[in-house]
Amino acid sequence: MNTPDTRPALQALNALYARRAPIYDYELMPVAPLRREAIAALELAPGQTVLDIGAGTGLSLPELSRALGPTGRIVAVEPCETMMRLARQRARTNHLDTPVDYLPTTAEDAPYASALDTRRADAALFFFTHDVLQSLEAVERALAALKPGARIVAAGLAWAPPWMPMSNCFVLGAAMHSILRMEGLDCPWRHLEARMANAEVERRWLASAYLLKGRR
Ligand SMILES: C[S@@+](CC[C@H](N)C(=O)[O-])C[C@H]1O[C@@H](n2cnc3c(N)ncnc32)[C@H](O)[C@@H]1O
Repeated sequence: MNTPDTRPALQALNALYARRAPIYDYELMPVAPLRREAIAALELAPGQTVLDIGAGTGLSLPELSRALGPTGRIVAVEPCETMMRLARQRARTNHLDTPVDYLPTTAEDAPYASALDTRRADAALFFFTHDVLQSLEAVERALAALKPGARIVAAGLAWAPPWMPMSNCFVLGAAMHSILRMEGLDCPWRHLEARMANAEVERRWLASAYLLKGRR
């Protein structure tokens, strides 16, 4: 489990997201179209199981539930207690009919095997989870919980090419406000892409964001 020695960032993470939680949904409103696109790219079918890694306040839960229906399942991983509380609240107030397993821990520590009853998941969503994607341990653990051929979708901030300085000013401001690990913004998807078959990366928002989709 987390210890101050191995996870010095955990306290910082909790502080950052506990502070952002009350206004988080408003901040993320402009991101809604990209979220819909990312969830559609998961190609979910009723009855399937999806991992929502770094689930935050659960903004993806209603759309995921619409795709999965009552026989599906969502495994939501979120270490920040305040964000997780808001995710649970959202699931209740939206009367989600898909069961949600909440794993209140980091993606490095998530007990997927027990949450999935040793079965594996059909898809994984990493939506604006830069800090998770920079952790090889977190990525490998999540991929191990997926079936072969499972759909994987990630989206988030990335440096635009150097000849697009306005885009990069936006990325810098947004990243300083929202992530702990500034490294890897040139290619945030590198750990995932190296472990996927035929990953496709498309750029969005004047190249300041990306959408990665493919299969395990
Ligand atoms: C920018 S928010 C995105 C939340 C959500 N995916 C969404 O679409 O709104 C990033 C989330 O990742 C979580 N996070 C950061 N590091 C994590 C880690 N190592 N494991 C799991 N979640 C993490 C944060 O607590 C935060 O809730």
